[in-house]
Amino acid sequence: MLVRRKRGWELPESAATPEHVYLNRRRFMGTAGSGALAIASGLVWPGTGIAQDGGSARPTADLYPVPRNMRYRVERDLTSEELATTYNNFYEFGSHKEIWRAAQALPIRPWTVTFDGQVEEERTVDIDTLIRAMSLEERVYRLRCVEAWAITIPWSGFPMRALIDYARPLSSARYVRMETFQDSEVAPGQRQFWYPWPYVEGLTMAEARNDLAFMVTGLYGRPLPKQNGAPLRLAVPWKYGFKSLKSIVRLTFTEERPVNFWQEIAPNEYGFWANVNPEVPHPRWSQATERLIGTDERVPTRIYNGYGEFVADLYADMQGEPLFM
Ligand code: MTE
Repeated sequence: MLVRRKRGWELPESAATPEHVYLNRRRFMGTAGSGALAIASGLVWPGTGIAQDGGSARPTADLYPVPRNMRYRVERDLTSEELATTYNNFYEFGSHKEIWRAAQALPIRPWTVTFDGQVEEERTVDIDTLIRAMSLEERVYRLRCVEAWAITIPWSGFPMRALIDYARPLSSARYVRMETFQDSEVAPGQRQFWYPWPYVEGLTMAEARNDLAFMVTGLYGRPLPKQNGAPLRLAVPWKYGFKSLKSIVRLTFTEERPVNFWQEIAPNEYGFWANVNPEVPHPRWSQATERLIGTDERVPTRIYNGYGEFVADLYADMQGEPLFM
């Protein structure tokens, strides 16, 4: 992955939305009913005339905002919505951070998700049917990119465990392999043939069933923007951000450990587990500290990105595995 340099348009901390402002807006949206929907769908990306929904209808937009689950607390300020939606990694649309505009070309309806491999029955479900079958909640999570920057954002979505139950895997399944869409007509990065498209990621079944593993359908109390991985992405906050794949179309249950996108490209730099650890440097840079995007602050990186109480047990008997790359 490219090492990033600070860009002129990054906001100072004083410009980041304080949580009480954000909460007030949520309260407003929660009470304003259908009027709020009209406002939400009328939003444009800052400094442009581009509608935030990129022109795609969102049949489940009425579900947002959703109640926040206070079990998942973060002691950091939220990253501003503007920054979290304009500073992204989504290599399908380019290998730089300003892909948000290009990502608006992704058609996200109709959209289906396929469950296959070791399942009771293979099936393909429409994304809005799936979202309506789930109980949505909001969780504030940290996201720590392997490039040593971090953000803190309120995701909306549902526990990955609920998706696994929905998929009905066989007991022989040991891993879940997940795949992002593939369409080089709309995603120029996918015309770069040296990348092993589509983007693939994987988890063990125990990781996928962990309380923290979350399927994301929204951000900041609204449906998920395309550049953040609409209409369905993963959030596994104890792992480096590349594990949290975007715009998922397929989950395959398997006995074999999947090889992920970055591992396939550079197996000496990226592995299957990719758990955050300040003491295990990337071969080309330190992981000891991280930069909070939108600020000039560098803070110490925490083991499992600070989520050890939820996940450390998963790895208790795996000392021989390269758990931190
Ligand atoms: N998913 C896909 N399909 N393609 C990508 O390039 N980048 C990953 C992850 N998911 C990526 C992806 C990386 S490296 C990070 S850090 C996060 O997305 C960034 O998520 P964000 O842009 O919502 O902050």
